[in-house]
Amino acid sequence: MTNPIIPKITLVGAGPGDPELLTIKAWKALQQADVVLYDALVSDDVLDMVRPGAILVDVGKRASKHTHPQEDINWMLVEYAMNHGHVVRLKGGDPFVFGRGYEEMAHAAMFGIKVDIVPGLSSCIAVPGLQGVPVTCRGINESFWVVTGTTRSGSISKDVELAAQSSATAVILMGMRKLGDIMDIYTALGKKDTPAMVVQNGSTPEEKVVLGRVHNLSERVAMADASSPGIIVIGDVVALHPQYKQAEPNYVALSKKGKVTNEHISV
Ligand SMILES: C[S@@+](CC[C@H](N)C(=O)[O-])C[C@H]1O[C@@H](n2cnc3c(N)ncnc32)[C@H](O)[C@@H]1O
Repeated sequence: MTNPIIPKITLVGAGPGDPELLTIKAWKALQQADVVLYDALVSDDVLDMVRPGAILVDVGKRASKHTHPQEDINWMLVEYAMNHGHVVRLKGGDPFVFGRGYEEMAHAAMFGIKVDIVPGLSSCIAVPGLQGVPVTCRGINESFWVVTGTTRSGSISKDVELAAQSSATAVILMGMRKLGDIMDIYTALGKKDTPAMVVQNGSTPEEKVVLGRVHNLSERVAMADASSPGIIVIGDVVALHPQYKQAEPNYVALSKKGKVTNEHISV
């Protein structure tokens, strides 16, 4: 007698790309999966950790060429779970940070399928962190905003302008195509000298980092030929990057509580 299929879904965050940044729980889920549905941002190195014999399904989505619409992915999850058992839904970063993880979970719940969550390291914190740039730093800022550069309508989120009015670090995801417009918003608010950086493919061998300020970042990014997937980080904390002094020799940061410069860090 064959065992009955017990449908189950595990929503797993794969982190920013480096397979060593997977959690132990994520690794265990990949070892136990019957099927893995993965996104474009999941690296090959991470896929190498999937149990041999598991079915791998690429449902990768990139801004202008959707391989599968979200609705199809929702249905695929349910169908694979009902026909094969344990489905791991593997997403870049954390599934609940601009990951549509909740929609997939809610869809599965309509069919009574159990969904476990395995959070991942989100690129919004991990990618700047790997550069030595903390999203918050005592004496420099009191919050950080994670904003999407691309809303459903295709326009820039109004939250970019709100973040620009604060002293927060802004971490903008999916904003590379709007980089110039985002810098214009900061410039219009008198922040053309604010430190800013772009990191493309953070934590992977293809990583590119561009450092500068609001007024010169777009030009430097074009020269470095950096594009998606990339995050944009804007705020005084960017000046703590160990190479910031080389990139912007004249930058002197003044925090509320005194002078904070990257000279505090010896490299
Ligand atoms: C659909 S969002 C998903 C975010 C993901 N859930 C997370 O928590 O990181 C995709 C965007 O995340 C950012 N991103 C994800 N991984 C990245 C990486 N390794 N390096 C730079 N940016 C990354 C880019 O802005 C990309 O366009």
